[in-house]
Amino acid sequence: MPVLVVVGTQWGDEGKGKIVDVLTEKADFVVRFQGGNNAGHTLVINQKKYILHLIPSGIFHPHTTCVIGNGVVVDPEVLIREIENLKKEGLEVSAKKLRVSERAHTIMPYHKALDLARENRASREKKGTKIGTTGRGIGPCYEDKAGRRGFRLIDLTYPEIFKEKLKTVLEEKNMLLEYLGAEKLDFQEIYEKYVYYGNYLKPYLTDVSRILWEAKRDGKKILFEGAQGTFLDIDHGTYPYVTSSNTLAGNACCGSGIGPCEIDRVLGIVKAYTTRVGEGPFPTELKDETGDYLRERGGEYGSTTGRPRRCGWLDLVLVKTAVRLNGIKGIALTKLDVLTGLDSIKVCTAYEYEGKVVDFVPSTLVEMAKLKPVYHELPGWKKDIKDARSLEDLPENTKNYLKFIQDYLEVPLYLVSTGPERENCLYLKNPFEK
Ligand code: IMP
Repeated sequence: MPVLVVVGTQWGDEGKGKIVDVLTEKADFVVRFQGGNNAGHTLVINQKKYILHLIPSGIFHPHTTCVIGNGVVVDPEVLIREIENLKKEGLEVSAKKLRVSERAHTIMPYHKALDLARENRASREKKGTKIGTTGRGIGPCYEDKAGRRGFRLIDLTYPEIFKEKLKTVLEEKNMLLEYLGAEKLDFQEIYEKYVYYGNYLKPYLTDVSRILWEAKRDGKKILFEGAQGTFLDIDHGTYPYVTSSNTLAGNACCGSGIGPCEIDRVLGIVKAYTTRVGEGPFPTELKDETGDYLRERGGEYGSTTGRPRRCGWLDLVLVKTAVRLNGIKGIALTKLDVLTGLDSIKVCTAYEYEGKVVDFVPSTLVEMAKLKPVYHELPGWKKDIKDARSLEDLPENTKNYLKFIQDYLEVPLYLVSTGPERENCLYLKNPFEK
C-alpha cells in the first residue's frame, strides 16, 4: 500500500500539516500537487514552531524526498526564502532532497498585484464580489496558466525567450492594473529578478512525473499532500468562494503526472469542528462565545494571513460529501482536544431546506444560504486528553463522539490527533498498510 493521498475534507486548515508530518516518517516521497503559498502548515517540533507555505513538511525528515508537482503555482521568491530559512536552521535542502517540477507555473508580481487590486476594488464598491483571497496571486496565476499566458519555472531559464513574452504579457497586465487603480510594474525589475530566480532554482527543477514513476516502480512509499480543503475546490467547492485549483484527491494525478491506478488509498483529514477563512457559506458557523472558545483554544488564526478563522460545529454532511468526492477510505481526526471542557457538543447530521430535511450540499449560494443545520447533541468531557495513548485512555464521552463520527461516515478512523505535538496522536491503523 505504498501510494497515499491526504486531503482536507472541510474548508482547509484541518491540521493536515501535522498528520502529513507524522505519516512522512513512514514515507519516502512527499508530494504537493496543487495550490501555492496560499497554504500554510504550522508544525510544532520539539516545542519550536515552523510555518511552511510551499515546501512539504517532509523536509524535516532526513530520509524523505520532497516534491513540488506541476499543479502547484510557485512564487519563486517565497520558495527561495523557505529554502534559505531552512538551511539557516541547519536542515538539508539540497537539489536531491527537494525536487520541483519544471512545468510548475510561476507566480509573477502582477499576479499578486492583481489579486490585491481586485479584492480592494470589490471591498471599495461593496458589490459582494470579494472572495477574501490570501492575496498571494494564486487565482491570477492559474488564470494565466489556463489562458496560455503563464510562465513555467523552466521558462525562467531561457532568458531571451522569457524577455520577449514578458514584454507582451506585462503590457496587458499594466493596462489592467491601471484600470483597477493600482500601480504599474516595471519590466526591467521583474525581468532581472526572475532570471535570477530561474538560475537559483535550476538545479531543483526536474520532470516530477518520471521521478514518481520510478519511485512507484521501486516500491517506495509516496505521500501526496493536498492543500486547502474539499470545499475550496474550484469545481466541487462553494463556488465562487473557493481557491483556483482542484483540491480533490483526483488532482494528485494531474498535478504531478501519476496515473489514477497508481493511487492506493485516500485519507481524509477531518477537524473535530469546522473552520473557514475568507468569505462564503458556512451553515454551522457559531457567531457566539462557543465560536470564540473554539477559535481561542484551537489557535484558529490563519498561518498564511493571520486572519481569525470563522468557527463552528462539525458538519458531517459536508464531510460525508467529501468522502464521496475524494474516494476517502480512512479518516484522520484532528484537534479533538480543542473540544475538551465543553458541556455538550453538537454535530450537524442534515440540513433543513425549505421545510424538508436534506443530506446533500447544494450547488448554489442561494440554496446554501437557506440551509439550517439539523444537530445531534452529544455530552462533552472535561478530562485533558492530550496524553492519551490509546482509545481506552479516553473518557467515555470522547469515545462516543468518535464512534458517532465513524458510524455516520461509514469510514474507519486511522488516526486521532489530541494535541499539537507529534506524540499527541492515537495511531489506530497504519494508512500505508493494507
Ligand atoms: P486564494 O486561494 O488565495 O485565491 O483564496 C481563495 C479562498 O481560499 C479564500 O477564502 C482563502 O481564505 C481560501 N484559502 C486559500 N488557501 C487556504 C488554506 O490553505 N486554508 C484555508 N483557506 C484557504
